[in-house]
Amino acid sequence: MTKKLYIKTYGCQMNVYDTERMVDVMAHEGYTTTDKPDDADLIVLNTCHIREKAAEKVYSDIGRLRVMKQKQAKKGSKETILAVGGCVAQAEGAEIQRRMPVVDMVFGPQTYHRLPDMARRAHELKKQGEHPRIVDTDLSVSEKFAALSQKTVTPKKTAFLTIQEGCDKFCTYCVVPYTRGGEFSRSFEDVMKDAGKLNDAGVLEVTLLGQNVNAYHGMSAGGKEWSLARLIRHLADVTDFKRIRYTTSHPGDMTDELIAIHGEIEQCMPYLHLPVQSGSDKIVKAMNRHHTIASYLKTIEDIRKVRPDIALSGDFIVGFPGESDADFEETMKLVREVNYAQAYSFMYSERPGTPAAAWEDQVESHVKSERLAELQEELNRQQRAFNELSVGKVMPVLLERTGKQAGQLVGRSPYMQAVHVDFGNGETAAQNFGKLVDMKIISAGPRSLKGEFTT
Ligand code: SAH
Ligand code: SF4
Ligand code: F3S
Repeated sequence: MTKKLYIKTYGCQMNVYDTERMVDVMAHEGYTTTDKPDDADLIVLNTCHIREKAAEKVYSDIGRLRVMKQKQAKKGSKETILAVGGCVAQAEGAEIQRRMPVVDMVFGPQTYHRLPDMARRAHELKKQGEHPRIVDTDLSVSEKFAALSQKTVTPKKTAFLTIQEGCDKFCTYCVVPYTRGGEFSRSFEDVMKDAGKLNDAGVLEVTLLGQNVNAYHGMSAGGKEWSLARLIRHLADVTDFKRIRYTTSHPGDMTDELIAIHGEIEQCMPYLHLPVQSGSDKIVKAMNRHHTIASYLKTIEDIRKVRPDIALSGDFIVGFPGESDADFEETMKLVREVNYAQAYSFMYSERPGTPAAAWEDQVESHVKSERLAELQEELNRQQRAFNELSVGKVMPVLLERTGKQAGQLVGRSPYMQAVHVDFGNGETAAQNFGKLVDMKIISAGPRSLKGEFTT
């Protein structure tokens, strides 16, 4: 009998990839997906712990699902298994069930290959009238990848491929080393096996994922070590991928070899997400970022030498403990100097168990919001300016999803800008879905572009 699975994904692309893998592994157990939690036999919340808001959202969602389950119980309709997976699960473990007894299963990001087994056990216990209370927060990654390599292949033309997980950097604000565990690179053969399946399925664009993807150092059976640069070079040689991207990179791991391929390999897209977090040397040191502002700027300079049109993106945290007005000014100065094509910026959030959360020199919340508003105004201005520069140009766009309006498709430019195209009728749109086509950019908005056929 087929069962229904509802998964909600929070957080980063790593979680998006993990969700795809869970859908894949559960499909082999007879589960099809549904977008209605009420119809599901199994609900999985694939959660994120990076900032307080992200984690709190999970608890309010669980609250809503509790009400739904109470209604189901009254009607005597089916009993849904409620599972919390991902980074909140890893960080809080059984505590989640203490706070929210309605939760049947808690499992961390490195254990979802055991999801079929956990789900079977949970359904069994429910049948016997017991509350399952299953918790699995083991952190050994290698087992997961071995069990979970790509089974069914995505019909999409753009795909994520996780090649590295976890982090050993221990930035003083960040939960990732605790929720995802230590840095782990998948072996070259494993990566190539999944890449081959994506290639055979006609995928045109692959994004190599890792928390610190440029720290990748996978081994091959012969004992050879593969850097990210060498892996990308190899993928460009042996696959038909038209576009290769990678994210997220750490400035400290941007090797000369990796910088160089941006100028050499056509498939390597002109977009780089390189978070710096702050423009103040004092703050990046307190953050334990392992690089200086000067070394970051040098990397940017080097990459612009080999790829002058590269679109740069970054992450910023404002209001880190000890950040003075002068430190924040240095962030503004850096932003003006680099000129980003787009960026993400956040107010510092105290995360339990991380060193900076215990420091005394926390910044007041109204100061954080003022700084964030000022920073975002500048970043938005830069993004608009970058988008406006595209108007009149012709660029290849991978039309990967349908738009809100009928006959509309949305794709990405080489620079990661969203491009909306109105085909006028559904038939022409359908013919172009999943294609990489040249589009003339006819207008630009703050977050996206509009394109049309060049003819
Ligand atoms: N591994 C990546 C980032 C992963 S987290 C890297 O090092 O670049 C994504 C982003 O969330 C970070 O770059 C940072 O800007 C933000 N972030 C992480 N912890 C945070 C915290 N405690 N408060 C606010 N923002 C945070
Ligand atoms: Fe977190 Fe720093 Fe690791 Fe990125 S490099 S995941 S910010 S600890
Ligand atoms: Fe969030 Fe975990 Fe990703 S904490 S950002 S989902 S690694």
